[in-house]
Amino acid sequence: MSVKMVIIQGSPRKNGSTRFLSSVMAQSAQGAKAQVSEIDGTKLSFKIPGCIGCGSCHESEQYSCVVDDELAKTTAGLVNYDVLAFATPTYWMSYPAQLKMMVDRMGSLVKFDQSGSVQTPLSGKVLAVMATGNDGMEDNMALLEGQVKSLAHMLSCQFHSCMFPNIPRDLSTLREDSRLIEKAGEFGRLLSTAKEHHL
Ligand SMILES: Cc1cc2nc3c(=O)[nH]c(=O)nc-3n(C[C@H](O)[C@H](O)[C@H](O)COP(=O)(O)O)c2cc1C
Repeated sequence: MSVKMVIIQGSPRKNGSTRFLSSVMAQSAQGAKAQVSEIDGTKLSFKIPGCIGCGSCHESEQYSCVVDDELAKTTAGLVNYDVLAFATPTYWMSYPAQLKMMVDRMGSLVKFDQSGSVQTPLSGKVLAVMATGNDGMEDNMALLEGQVKSLAHMLSCQFHSCMFPNIPRDLSTLREDSRLIEKAGEFGRLLSTAKEHHL
């Protein structure tokens, strides 16, 4: 059975480096027989931005946020995929606020049992990040990578990352960089088989 992968797009820029490299990643994953969908995490409508910590999701038996908006419905739908891949630029050593709203709502996909252990339907899935940035890894993109790695660990997900530090500022230069394009393509192929390796 083919892997169901969703790319959660975190770049607010339509014609930027993140969307370009994530489209390369998506095409190569599709070429390797993954079923690839994309959620534009920067465009989801909401009644309340992010999470207000009301705790109602933890009291309910459902794994969903109680706020009736697109952000909640889309977040609840993440459980339908084998591979969740964030594609994001680095903003201030992290990911953009638009994406953070969805990550915060992902609290609704978690419950804590009496011993405080995390129960989540995301357990056993793959949580990945592909990120671009203008500066280097140290004290910068490594912090973003570490955040998603810690999130994956907490959710008992398998973690993969593909980081593009010092990305060319000019998209036409990036489009001609076969090394970076190959790296994004390889990551797509890896994610298309990551779940199988895990099992
Ligand atoms: C608000 C903002 C903050 C940024 N902060 C960082 C940063 O902390 N580290 C970094 O390497 N690049 C940073 N950048 C540069 C972007 O990560 C980089 O240009 C990225 O490739 C943009 O992706 P895009 O082309 O998809 O928009 C920042 C850009 C913006 C607009």
